[in-house]
Amino acid sequence: MTAVNAVARGELAALYGPVADDLPRVDALIASLVQVEFPWLRRMLESTLGGGGKRLRPAIALLAGRLGRYDLELLVPLAASVELLHTATLVHDDVIDAAPKRRGRPTAAALFNNASSVMLGDYLFAHAAEFVTRTGHVQVIRNFTDTLRVMAQGELAQDIAAFEYSRDVQRYLDRIHGKTASLFATAAENGALVTGAPEREVRALRRFGAQIGIAFQIVDDVLDFAATAEELGKPAGSDLLAGTLTLPALLYMESAPDDNPVRRAFAGTRRRANLQRAVADIRASDLLEQSMATARRFADEARAALDALPAGEPRATLDGLVDYVLARRS
Ligand code: IPE
Ligand code: IPE
Ligand code: MG
Ligand code: MG
Repeated sequence: MTAVNAVARGELAALYGPVADDLPRVDALIASLVQVEFPWLRRMLESTLGGGGKRLRPAIALLAGRLGRYDLELLVPLAASVELLHTATLVHDDVIDAAPKRRGRPTAAALFNNASSVMLGDYLFAHAAEFVTRTGHVQVIRNFTDTLRVMAQGELAQDIAAFEYSRDVQRYLDRIHGKTASLFATAAENGALVTGAPEREVRALRRFGAQIGIAFQIVDDVLDFAATAEELGKPAGSDLLAGTLTLPALLYMESAPDDNPVRRAFAGTRRRANLQRAVADIRASDLLEQSMATARRFADEARAALDALPAGEPRATLDGLVDYVLARRS
């Protein structure tokens, strides 16, 4: 772990408040998966599961669990299922994007080739499913399978739409709800469900997760333009070059709908040069700030959802996570 990451992890521990001390148990359960005989698989698991990450989704699951009977026998496998589902989708996402780096390290796709990486993702999905069954809670398991389906659909929708010129912001929001917010929603809802929180609170937490999840992905899409690869631990400036239209690009196209570099690139004219021009224009404009204003609106909705929860440390910590999601640089 680099010094920068160590500091960042210390800050996150402060951020996760009443559940920070329990996250290492989630990490330990996930780390136990590397103990396999098959050397090739073991190497893949070590490189993929040893790479850190912010642990935001399992932290949200545990915090939601603080609203009911906080039983770590159920919550640790539940939180591990959420983080592992996330990790598996990242392994597949890095194949789709041919991404060289993730969490500051080479991706499975870069180290082990695409075919092996797809199988590794499937292998992790299987373990995530096994962890969630340990809760013995049918609705929690159903939420998990629904989320896996919706996430796959979201990633597919994005992949299919690459280099397709569309100014449809609602379509973008639907897609990021699918690929990202659905998992935040399930993390929050499942944490509350397994511990028997009141139904009104379960619903509020699902809404919280969905809204903070949208804000999270919009910020990720802004950081793709605004941050460096070093800060992110993954490539920067690559969404638009890969033909993915995110909010900053959609706003840019809106300012000159009939003729702009994105339109020219997508029509096949000097593709790389036009996209690089668009990236430079977006970085120099106030469109990233405008996109952040949209992220802040979803963040406000997330905060409003918390009104249905009893006042106390778990709620205050979830509230603090909303600020973190807007302020983060990695
Ligand atoms: C990355 O998620 C994928 C997106 C939904 C943008 P995170 O930024 O939470 O990734 P890690 O777990 O911290 O690496
Ligand atoms: C999130 O989208 C990917 C998944 C939800 C699997 P991105 O493509 O923006 O994620 P990064 O930027 O590669 O982490
Ligand atoms: Mg990606
Ligand atoms: Mg991204």
